[in-house]
Amino acid sequence: MAPVSDERERFLIRYVGDFAPFTVARADGAWVETTDGRRILDFTSGQICSTLGHNHSRIGGALRDALDTVVHLNSWMLSEPVLGLGERLAGLLPPPLERTVFLSTGSEANEVALKLAKLRTGRFEVVGLTRSFHGLLAGIASVNFSMAHSGYGPLLPGSFALPAPYAYRCPVRHCAGTCDCTCLEVGFELVDQQSVGSLAALIAEPVLSTGGIVVPPDGYFRRVRELCDERGMLLVLDEAQTCLGRLGTMFAFERDGVVPDLLSLSKTLGGGLPLAATVTSSAIADDCEAKGFVHVTSHVSDPLPAAAGLAVLDVVEDEGLVELARRRGEYLMARLRELQAAHEHIGDVRGRGLLVGLELVEDRGSKAPADALGRAVTDECLDRGLSMNIVRSGKIANCFRLAPPLNVTEDEIDTAVEILDASLRAVLAGNAALARA
Ligand SMILES: Cc1ncc(COP(=O)(O)O)c(C=O)c1O
Repeated sequence: MAPVSDERERFLIRYVGDFAPFTVARADGAWVETTDGRRILDFTSGQICSTLGHNHSRIGGALRDALDTVVHLNSWMLSEPVLGLGERLAGLLPPPLERTVFLSTGSEANEVALKLAKLRTGRFEVVGLTRSFHGLLAGIASVNFSMAHSGYGPLLPGSFALPAPYAYRCPVRHCAGTCDCTCLEVGFELVDQQSVGSLAALIAEPVLSTGGIVVPPDGYFRRVRELCDERGMLLVLDEAQTCLGRLGTMFAFERDGVVPDLLSLSKTLGGGLPLAATVTSSAIADDCEAKGFVHVTSHVSDPLPAAAGLAVLDVVEDEGLVELARRRGEYLMARLRELQAAHEHIGDVRGRGLLVGLELVEDRGSKAPADALGRAVTDECLDRGLSMNIVRSGKIANCFRLAPPLNVTEDEIDTAVEILDASLRAVLAGNAALARA
């Protein structure tokens, strides 16, 4: 167990292993500051939500306005921020995506997307990708294939997995280095043979993040769209982490050349506030409304998070964050490739925009996942002032996820890469000393 920084931790449930060995006093931009005065570079943007950096002044301003006017409402009462945000999203998205319901978390937005898909199609089977993460509520967790399935009883019937297009380690042992989508064709053959003829939807992240920064090849989602259309299934894209600029486009699907039937937005939409949205077409919304669609939550109509969402959209546009993320992503990737050239243990560097993965291996020949090294380097980085995630699929956790705020500076990227470099060297030197002893 990690050192306990505050005795009061004993009053909390550990929901994902240990807590950090420090307590945070404040946060600003790409930095968090601990109660004992340490400054830590936050290369996870909190929980990949603070894409504008922590505590952006314009989010603060929007929240103060909401506090002075109205924070929370009964679900059937509408307010200016909710109406404004719905209209704004419809203006940003391509047709026919124009109808939104607001929620608080990504799990909820995906649950709602799948409920709408089921009501629309009258079917119940849902396909997801291995290594995917869509949230941990009971329904959506059924197609959450990267973690947390065991211990909670049955999943929803009719949940199927397609092998994720993970080019570095082809799931069907077919490709090497680049994916030719055989995994998708093989996967759908398996789905068809297991289905009871009730395929409602396929849900996917445009870039699989929690499962190890898996970037599907060009054309992947166009083929997904065709395969769904052939079966009368709806396509749900979960853009929790990828929307509003992180991948260098406002929405990730723009680059993939497809428009989903249902789009789930969360994390980045609230810029750190709990705000999520499910967006669909009027055809689907009207049909589901006519069929009696119900999804009311305590915060479905709250002005306060919607005001934060509007501020996020303003800042993304006014500060040119989409283009900035693209350029800073290229810079980060180039710096990490330099690091890869210097470290045999860095097997792969991949990603898009400012969602970047760095996979550690024992050696590049065997590609054996360097699990223990990953954990040790994560700790060493934190000691030296850099917070990064190591993401896992199943039991293996050997891929760093780097997702700083979209307005991270080149100096901050240099600092992070220097800390990572020094941490790798320190841990490897320590390992070598241990091996000699
Ligand atoms: C792609 C994706 N979808 C959904 C979720 C779930 O979001 P939440 O934790 O807000 O329920 C996450 C959380 O990490 C995510 O990464």
